[in-house]
Amino acid sequence: MKYIDVAINELKAQPKVWLITGVAGFIGSNLLERLLSLDQVVIGLDNFSTGHVHNLRLVESIVTTEQWKRFTFFEGDIRNLDDCRSACRGIDYILHEAALGSVPRSIENPIASNETNISGFLNMLVAARDEGVKRFVYAASSSTYGDHPGLPKVEDKIGKPLSPYAVTKYVNELYADVFAKCYNFNSIGLRYFNVFGPRQDPNGAYAAVIPKWTAAILAGEQIKINGDGETSRDFCFIENVLQANILAATCNEEAVNTVYNVAVGERTSLNELFKMISNALKENGFSHNIFPPEFCKFREGDVKHSLANIEKIRSLLKYEPTYTVNDGIRVAMHWYMTQYL
Ligand SMILES: NC(=O)c1ccc[n+]([C@@H]2O[C@H](COP(=O)([O-])OP(=O)(O)OC[C@H]3O[C@@H](n4cnc5c(N)ncnc54)[C@H](O)[C@@H]3O)[C@@H](O)[C@H]2O)c1
Repeated sequence: MKYIDVAINELKAQPKVWLITGVAGFIGSNLLERLLSLDQVVIGLDNFSTGHVHNLRLVESIVTTEQWKRFTFFEGDIRNLDDCRSACRGIDYILHEAALGSVPRSIENPIASNETNISGFLNMLVAARDEGVKRFVYAASSSTYGDHPGLPKVEDKIGKPLSPYAVTKYVNELYADVFAKCYNFNSIGLRYFNVFGPRQDPNGAYAAVIPKWTAAILAGEQIKINGDGETSRDFCFIENVLQANILAATCNEEAVNTVYNVAVGERTSLNELFKMISNALKENGFSHNIFPPEFCKFREGDVKHSLANIEKIRSLLKYEPTYTVNDGIRVAMHWYMTQYL
């Protein structure tokens, strides 16, 4: 039996109390759906700065009434220590997703990113420590690799950050490490690589590439590629991220107080991604014209290539991605067509 199935069976047999911060966001709401479907008790914290009530409503429509009753939503802000303390009371495991994402957003407003991603993170660590939470799993980021030229990216070889966002995510790792040393605190950082899937927001100036392109294509618009399209990423379907979070929360203590890449270990250029999205939309019955992309200037703060080595998470957490990029794109495109067409 796979490790993830063992972990799930144990959780079902003995449900835990979880706190998901950023629960109204893309990753947070998917974690909520999975945990409730496993009959867990979940507290959710969000201030709706980039998350949406409709994400919570969608989860409510998917899980059973009994499962939904196990969820308590707390509207609050991680920049407020009292909110963090209230949310952390009686919690076994924290999945800390709340942050201001996006490299360009952080370049435009580094103070806002710093306040939520660093001060808010520190508040959460302090509250979790004081409440005696068993495990703190947090969303780290592949942006921490910065200007390190090595590919694939291995956890202990990082460069200098290329954006304020990357600084904030690296500082998270430093604080988590110091909390382990100073307070015997127990955490795991998951360095996500370009996550995508249902409920990822296609709107706004800081939307991620897959939802942004998909919404544009569905609206009959031409998409824009920053650079020549040979920029590449290790796109990771949300299902793999859910697995990594459950494994990180439930693994034994030998594997804690470190960071893990969460990815597929597959490199996809933006040109290839565009083809995958176009094909998946057509397979799902989209019959309108899809214009070829327009190529624009490469975006500051971005890295040219990103690809993860996932051996560490494979060997220590027994993670095994179950969705390739193309499998995930198919599922995601189906979802976007049902929501946005
Ligand atoms: N999506 C990716 O590809 C990716 C990659 C690397 C890391 N991450 C990290 O994963 C986490 C989740 O990302 P996502 O894609 O789901 O983003 P998201 O914007 O959809 O979700 C973030 C959630 O946090 C909430 N939030 C923001 N500031 C808050 C505050 N001060 N107090 C309370 N709640 C607050 C937002 O309202 C939102 O619901 C973030 O930490 C992000 O930096 C995401």
